[in-house]
Amino acid sequence: MSMAPRPPVPDLIPESAPFSPEQRTWLNGFFAGLVSLENGAITPLSPDESAALMPGAPAGRDTGDADEGAPWHDQTLPLRERMKLAEGRPLPRRLMAAMGQQDCGQCGYDCKDYANALFARSEERLNLCVPGGKETARMLKTLYSELDAAPASPAAPAVSVKSAAPAPALAVVPSVPPGRSRDHPVEGIFLARTRLNKPGSEKETWHIEFDLAESKLDYAVGDSFGVFPANDGALADAVIAALAAPADFPIGGRALRDVLVDGVSLGAAPDMLFQLFSYITGGERRQKARALANGDDPDGDAATLDVLAAIEKFPGARPDPEAFVEALDPLQPRLYSIASSPKVERSRVALCVDAVRYPIGGRNRLGVASTYLADRATPGGRIKVYVQQAQHFALPADPSVPIIMIGPGTGVAPFRAFLHERMATKAPGRNWLFFGHQRSNYDFFYEDELAGMKAKHVLTRLTLAWSRDAGHKIYVQDRMREVGRDLWAWLAEGAHLYVCGDAKRMAKDVERALIDIVAAHGVRTTDEAIAFVASLKNSGRYQQDVY
Ligand SMILES: Cc1cc2nc3c(=O)[nH]c(=O)nc-3n(C[C@H](O)[C@H](O)[C@H](O)COP(=O)(O)OP(=O)(O)OC[C@H]3O[C@@H](n4cnc5c(N)ncnc54)[C@H](O)[C@@H]3O)c2cc1C
Ligand SMILES: NC(=O)c1ccc[n+]([C@@H]2O[C@H](COP(=O)([O-])OP(=O)(O)OC[C@H]3O[C@@H](n4cnc5c(N)ncnc54)[C@H](OP(=O)(O)O)[C@@H]3O)[C@@H](O)[C@H]2O)c1
Repeated sequence: MSMAPRPPVPDLIPESAPFSPEQRTWLNGFFAGLVSLENGAITPLSPDESAALMPGAPAGRDTGDADEGAPWHDQTLPLRERMKLAEGRPLPRRLMAAMGQQDCGQCGYDCKDYANALFARSEERLNLCVPGGKETARMLKTLYSELDAAPASPAAPAVSVKSAAPAPALAVVPSVPPGRSRDHPVEGIFLARTRLNKPGSEKETWHIEFDLAESKLDYAVGDSFGVFPANDGALADAVIAALAAPADFPIGGRALRDVLVDGVSLGAAPDMLFQLFSYITGGERRQKARALANGDDPDGDAATLDVLAAIEKFPGARPDPEAFVEALDPLQPRLYSIASSPKVERSRVALCVDAVRYPIGGRNRLGVASTYLADRATPGGRIKVYVQQAQHFALPADPSVPIIMIGPGTGVAPFRAFLHERMATKAPGRNWLFFGHQRSNYDFFYEDELAGMKAKHVLTRLTLAWSRDAGHKIYVQDRMREVGRDLWAWLAEGAHLYVCGDAKRMAKDVERALIDIVAAHGVRTTDEAIAFVASLKNSGRYQQDVY
């Protein structure tokens, strides 16, 4: 919708008010928006009155953490660019720049704490960053080798560097109760899976339920659920056949097959595996294995080499099964946003899981955890699980505060939880959900449930974006722009805004749309709109759960 040009709104927050420039811009934008909404005259507030409108941002305080929003930690940039931006920074910050995704939590830390723990040598595992994969592990290894030479820096984190000797890996979270971290999982019972797409969909997304009664594990809406998966048995068998090793070859008291199923990752082949091949092959094959171990791509196929494809690339090389297993990475847990509220069913947890399957070279590759939940986990079976407490993703403490939730695809998961919670607690706050997916006929997750909540006025407003119904793509951010004026009105009334789902493109595009909306309907310039959105984040009114 195009807006008629508005006369400029005078700044309402005086220069003398006790705010940082960013806060003053935020407040000026806020009032400019109110003026635009009401089209009426407004009397400037006193500094005290304006201060009362920004909870969590006390007057004069600089809310910006130098690390937050740092471009060198922007997951949408390639690693090489992030490292370039981080050049000259203290080692802990460069370690942080190497992390593949902002604070996804899968390693059991946020990125800053993982970087600090590596720097302090209280953590020695360099391969914990699931989204960063091999690329991050390689960069961390390079940076880690600088550690001995790194001078103490004033910008270094407040963690004590106790000794040069690495602490045992499991010393990460000693005081965390069972089931509250990846290092102390408990057993959950897999209950059931139900397909969320109708037949004919191009997507395969599952509503998954676990029973937590026995484990006594509790959780809050906004938290994520960690699942320890198992590899596909057929893939383990194919690896064993390619190695020409006996399936029951003993490895640390277990059979080789068992270790391949639930002990090690059979995904992207690690550098160590190529190193192993370089020791047991000769000539050109050794050169290639060495090159691959160094991160080079001699045949242009490095990105397609999972563990099985790597063995097949060096036919006849027969590594000792024990050395082979030692060269692999451990199988890591995966996180899923919780899609249920304990206020509705205390001991059950629901997830919304997109099954990752893609063909490469005639073989179907399987995302390990998503297809474990989609195919292999059996109802009644026990699975190692844990709850990863959300750091910055929660309903507003005040139940009357309106919320706007933007969650295409599996991004709807935590918002189902929020709506269940608000319904169970009879929270009076209004709730607006933006959901989107490929096709309305096939991919409308929880359609009946959402309709029911709408009928009960729990879901105040539902805005839908179908990307493949029309001849052109329509995404949630397009719908946001269409209803920008209303969205601004909710924000001006204090709404909290939440985004969940794809981190690489969607979350950034949604933020861009929000800036445009604030610029068009609230603040006058793009810079002011950017500052406004930044202060929404700083004051906890704009929260993201993206992956
Ligand atoms: C906080 C958090 C919350 C999350 N919530 C959810 C959720 O609610 N629902 C959900 O479904 N997921 C969620 N995820 C993502 C989830 O944790 C897993 O990353 C996802 O399920 C894939 O894991 P996997 O083990 O199945 O796949 P993996 O074995 O890890 O394989 C995935 C990898 O396969 C490769 N790949 C995938 N597709 C292709 C392709 N077409 N071509 C080539 N390579 C490809 C990519 O390298 C990708 O990284 C969340 C992640 C985080 C961090
Ligand atoms: N290669 C991979 O690793 C891979 C593969 C699939 C999913 N994923 C990730 O897995 C997660 C789960 O995916 P999902 O099943 O929830 O659904 P999804 O793949 O994120 O798709 C959900 C909806 O978002 C749309 N979309 C695509 N690009 C967008 C953008 N820039 N802005 C807004 N909407 C956009 C999709 O449209 P269109 O698809 O029609 O464009 C679709 O309608 C996501 O994080 C996704 O990135 C990864």
